[in-house]
Amino acid sequence: MSKIRLCGGKILSGTVQISGAKNAALPILAASLLAAQGESEISSVPRLNDVAVMIDLLQHLGVLVETDGQETIYLQAGQLSSNEAPYQLVSRMRASVLIMGPLLARLGSARVSLPGGCAIGSRPIDLHLKGFAALGADIVVGHGFVEASAAQLRGATIYLDYPSVGATENLLSAAVLARGTTVLENAAAEPEIVDLVRYLRAMGAQISGEGTDRIEIVGVPELRGVAHRIIPDRIEAGTYLIGAALCGGEIRLQNVEPDHLRPLLAKLAEGGVQVREDEDHLLVRGTRRLQPLDVQTLPHPGFPTDLQPQMMALLTQADGASLVVETVFENRFMHVPELVRMGADIKVNGRQAVVRGPTELTGVPVAATDLRAGAALVLAGLAATGETIVAEAHHIDRGYSDIVGKLQGLGAQIERIPD
Ligand code: UD1
Repeated sequence: MSKIRLCGGKILSGTVQISGAKNAALPILAASLLAAQGESEISSVPRLNDVAVMIDLLQHLGVLVETDGQETIYLQAGQLSSNEAPYQLVSRMRASVLIMGPLLARLGSARVSLPGGCAIGSRPIDLHLKGFAALGADIVVGHGFVEASAAQLRGATIYLDYPSVGATENLLSAAVLARGTTVLENAAAEPEIVDLVRYLRAMGAQISGEGTDRIEIVGVPELRGVAHRIIPDRIEAGTYLIGAALCGGEIRLQNVEPDHLRPLLAKLAEGGVQVREDEDHLLVRGTRRLQPLDVQTLPHPGFPTDLQPQMMALLTQADGASLVVETVFENRFMHVPELVRMGADIKVNGRQAVVRGPTELTGVPVAATDLRAGAALVLAGLAATGETIVAEAHHIDRGYSDIVGKLQGLGAQIERIPD
């Protein structure tokens, strides 16, 4: 059932429950490898394909994994049986590389199949490897694998050339068991990094400065499993906020952290979309006349690249010309040709796109090329007249828990259909 069919033009209204954050769950599940003793109980884990791949990988490494059948996962990593992430798992999910830091710290070596390219850019892991080397690891690349090994990691000051989210997570998870103090400079400050640090600290790690560009880690000899609840998914929440802005009506989002959504909320307010904040929920009301916006993606607290495609779908309905600049990934406009086929007026020049609106969108068959591009096409389909069929919807299922059910709950006419 890898296709989604939608009939646009319905006003969205009602309440949607936001799931736990995929991008926090993946590094946290990987970091459960660090616990030589005790059980980790991770709750609010979204039910997604990427999470299933991470669990397969952890089981392959010898972690005992159980679930309550809902959103809580129990992990015991006392006895690990392998240090290797094989190709068939890494090729299913690039974030498999996040096991490298924890394994290196815990076992003294890690061997991971090279993740290779990816639909939204080349996405190398050079910053991860440079960081491991600075902590004293030997790095060997060959035969499609990268192997890092060190009898004992030693703390170091590491300046990241770019505030990479994955490199910051991998280096944090390696440094917690290193001898001495590690300082990560120009570190990523995303909310998911802060959530990982909360988990590591509860396990016994000594870390300060998370959420800033300078994180200090004082190594400890051992960590133990603990209970942790994953933060709400700001990208999923942002996608539904944009959906409400696009389709009109009023939506209430439950399980959100408004502070994590500041860059999007500021842009929506600038465009004329009303969002009311309460303690644990947001209320968004679509506007008839959306102002054009200039949007530039940046590392946190800038506008998230993971909401750029969805925002572009929204801007097709703004009253005038908007400029979208993508600075994080070099090839993240693959939704543009599909939006243009639906009637959008978008011109791309390198990393910049000019979106002219408002244009009437019409339903056509389109294909999702990656996760967030797929979400943008679903949103565009909700605003289009007629029937849109989104092929390759498995990309969307990597990051959106029950997107069809949640949108149906808001009144959208949407269903899965067989290939
Ligand atoms: C994470 C998120 C992804 C999000 C991205 C940016 C997860 C599982 N995924 O991906 O959804 O879009 O952050 O917010 O959390 N880079 C290098 N060398 C490296 C590492 C990265 O050049 O060693 C480059 C990448 O090619 C990219 C940029 O840095 O252009 C940002 O990548 P990074 O922050 O590492 O993203 P991910 O951790 O892969």
